[in-house]
Amino acid sequence: MGSKMYMKPIIKKQLPGNMNKFGAVYHRNYRDEIDGVKINELIDRFNSPLFVFSEKTIRTTYRNIYREFSNQYPKVQFSWSYKTNYLDAVCSIFHQEGQFAEVVSEFEYQKARRLGVPGNKIIYNGPFKPEASLEKAFKEGAIVNLDHFDEIIKAENVAKKMGKRVNIGIRLNMDTGIYPQWSRFGFNLDNSSAYDAVKRINMSEWLNLSGLHAHIGTFILDYKAYSIQVKKMIDFMKKIENEFQISIEFLDFGGGFPSKNKLKGTYLPPEIAVPDVKEYIETISNALLSNLAPNEYPTVYMETGRAMIDEAGFLITTIEGIKRLPDGTKSYIIDAGINILYTSYWYNYKVEVDRPTQGAYENAIVYGPLCMNIDVILENAFLPPLSKGNRLILSPMGAYNVTQWMQFIQFRPAVVMIMEDGKVEEIRRAEKLEDITNLETVPEKLKHFIL
Ligand SMILES: Cc1ncc(COP(=O)(O)O)c(C=O)c1O
Repeated sequence: MGSKMYMKPIIKKQLPGNMNKFGAVYHRNYRDEIDGVKINELIDRFNSPLFVFSEKTIRTTYRNIYREFSNQYPKVQFSWSYKTNYLDAVCSIFHQEGQFAEVVSEFEYQKARRLGVPGNKIIYNGPFKPEASLEKAFKEGAIVNLDHFDEIIKAENVAKKMGKRVNIGIRLNMDTGIYPQWSRFGFNLDNSSAYDAVKRINMSEWLNLSGLHAHIGTFILDYKAYSIQVKKMIDFMKKIENEFQISIEFLDFGGGFPSKNKLKGTYLPPEIAVPDVKEYIETISNALLSNLAPNEYPTVYMETGRAMIDEAGFLITTIEGIKRLPDGTKSYIIDAGINILYTSYWYNYKVEVDRPTQGAYENAIVYGPLCMNIDVILENAFLPPLSKGNRLILSPMGAYNVTQWMQFIQFRPAVVMIMEDGKVEEIRRAEKLEDITNLETVPEKLKHFIL
């Protein structure tokens, strides 16, 4: 019989179920299934780690948000923010539900077109649009929002070359009380930059200004900021419509609603700290209805990203090792690293264990499998004693991970979707060595070596 491993004894004050100085303790719950499909079944079929998306949650989340908004302001059109999650299956659900595509690069534009989104249902944002893709976008009737003066000139040249006057929108930034202010995108509304841009566009025989866009930031916890944004954009719209006899057809308020993830540094749990999405929608529609006459209502585009998808995504990961650090802190090594968990920089994820556990909870560090000191997934997770092979289910995971993940020393894992009927579909297979090496070429003189 082998000897038992030494574990340093600790005394820990327990506050079961109550709010304590770590916020609400919600990870006491265990989860052995997602949408009725057992965690073990998923891992047996697709291996660990595994990203899992719920079709039901994606559709329900969108439908609730759309119903709430359109009940108050019917001329609203949601456009799926590709950068938040551009897996084909995820985008297809949103397009089936009627969302346009919101893209910020040539790559995303191509991806949306390949999926079958018509050009005139694509909003093309982003600070860099290559000339060829701008031309394609104009030809296909996309809604193009320009970011800076050089881009105005570029768009004008492209339109002139095409011999066609094109519709464009401009991107704005402004002080809405959200700091640090997102001022790097678009033209500033609080100084004369936005006004100068309109003047310049109005002088062009090739450009027709038809819309105003602004994305004031992300994970915005103060929904009143939207009231300032909407009012400022409407005031500006009225001013330029009067002065230049133009007609603004759409206002695009970008994204920015928070998800129910737990931001690092926030004391309260997200159930308390994050306002309901209804508050945001009500604020925006109230600002629209109170600042416009009924005959003036423009089409409103919304580019809501993380609030639409975050809670629909999970990562199942497995404990591969357990250690005490020299200072006595418990630590676990899991099989998913920061390279596939980009959002671990700013969130303390919800952690659920795949089985009921017994024993005293204590603070633990959860490390990933990378040979990097910075590979820390959770710095201060309050966990029961766990064993090798236990699975941790981390969430919300749906926004910004499977687009910003990075292939680094490991294969990126599979992504599956649990469909509404309970079937499990693999929507992105796990990477293989050839996926990476197929992109490489070895010059002839480097092909042979003797070791
Ligand atoms: C132009 C634009 N629209 C929409 C979004 C989606 O934002 P969020 O995920 O905060 O809703 C972003 C994200 O940064 C963006 O840059």
